[in-house]
Amino acid sequence: MEKKDINWGELGFSYQQTEKRFVANFKDGAWDEGALTEDATITLNECAGVFQYAQTCFEGLKAYTTESGDIVCFRPDLNAARMADSCRRLEMPVFPEEKFVEAVVETVKANAAYVAPYGSGATLYIRPYMFGSNPVIGVKPADEYQFRIFVTPVGPYFKGGAKPITIRVSDFDRAAPHGTGHIKAGLNYAMSLHAIVDAHNQGYDENMYLDPATRTKVEETGGANFIFITKDGKLVTPKSDSILPSITRRSLMYIAEHYLGMEVEHREVLFDEVKDFAECGLCGTAAVISPVGKIVDHGKEICFPSGMDDMGPVIKKLYDTLTGIQMGHIEAPEGWIKTI
Ligand code: PLP
Ligand code: COI
Repeated sequence: MEKKDINWGELGFSYQQTEKRFVANFKDGAWDEGALTEDATITLNECAGVFQYAQTCFEGLKAYTTESGDIVCFRPDLNAARMADSCRRLEMPVFPEEKFVEAVVETVKANAAYVAPYGSGATLYIRPYMFGSNPVIGVKPADEYQFRIFVTPVGPYFKGGAKPITIRVSDFDRAAPHGTGHIKAGLNYAMSLHAIVDAHNQGYDENMYLDPATRTKVEETGGANFIFITKDGKLVTPKSDSILPSITRRSLMYIAEHYLGMEVEHREVLFDEVKDFAECGLCGTAAVISPVGKIVDHGKEICFPSGMDDMGPVIKKLYDTLTGIQMGHIEAPEGWIKTI
């Protein structure tokens, strides 16, 4: 397979159009077969449900080239299941989970020239999404939907790759109690745009959102879950009904326990506890694990002992094991790796 002439090492996290994308349409109560197309443009009625009432959700996963040259993706069945949950919550039709995985495989295969070579530091980001496509003016769900998958080669989500970042405690909330924080609805990200622009303007890389009801518990950031390491080497990660159930976080909990012999606590995490942790990181498909060096809460700084230069030692072990499994040089648990 001849790869595209891309400067893989220089890629950031941005969109670059690739050759083929998958498109399926839902009409009269049923999905069509779906097919690949070269057309990257969508033409919709001005009153389409997605434009009026933001009826849209999405997923994110990656394809990797392993050490032995295979192209693989990581736990796509969990993205299929989470997208089904998002669709049910947003009154959208579920795209069948097996077909979701097949469509991911088909789309990656058709764009294999864009899957970064092993060791290049880049990956192929896969973006499945769905939206209401027919005109809707009264507040109600659409009757017609489109499901699409495009792919784009990406580098690190945060500039500087593995360098620790500085985040701030946000005054804005991203999700309401009993709202949509636990699904991957586009509206959650619209909610976070003002907060992230403001954070960047103030010199911070990301926002830490606290629970909206009491503002005492750690939730997540705009695009990743938190992991913390205690001074005695335990993994602690927030449990909440209003955060996205990160596939990376669930995988890291398993890796910590079964590969690294660590104790794992998945529980409510009070913001007051954060100052006592030894290491902090953000985990997600895009973020992988991005170490956090400093958290600023209205001028008060929490500086982790792991510092601002490198990942802390325990997060580094988790990072190496996770990426080792994804890149095929550490044996994966049954069912984690889907060969394309
Ligand atoms: N939390 C939010 C709000 C996200 O957007 C993402 C990204 O998908 C995550 C967490 C991490 O989830 P995952 O590890 O499944 O990519
Ligand atoms: C991901 O990690 O896949 C995300 O969706 C996070 C962000 C890019 C929205």
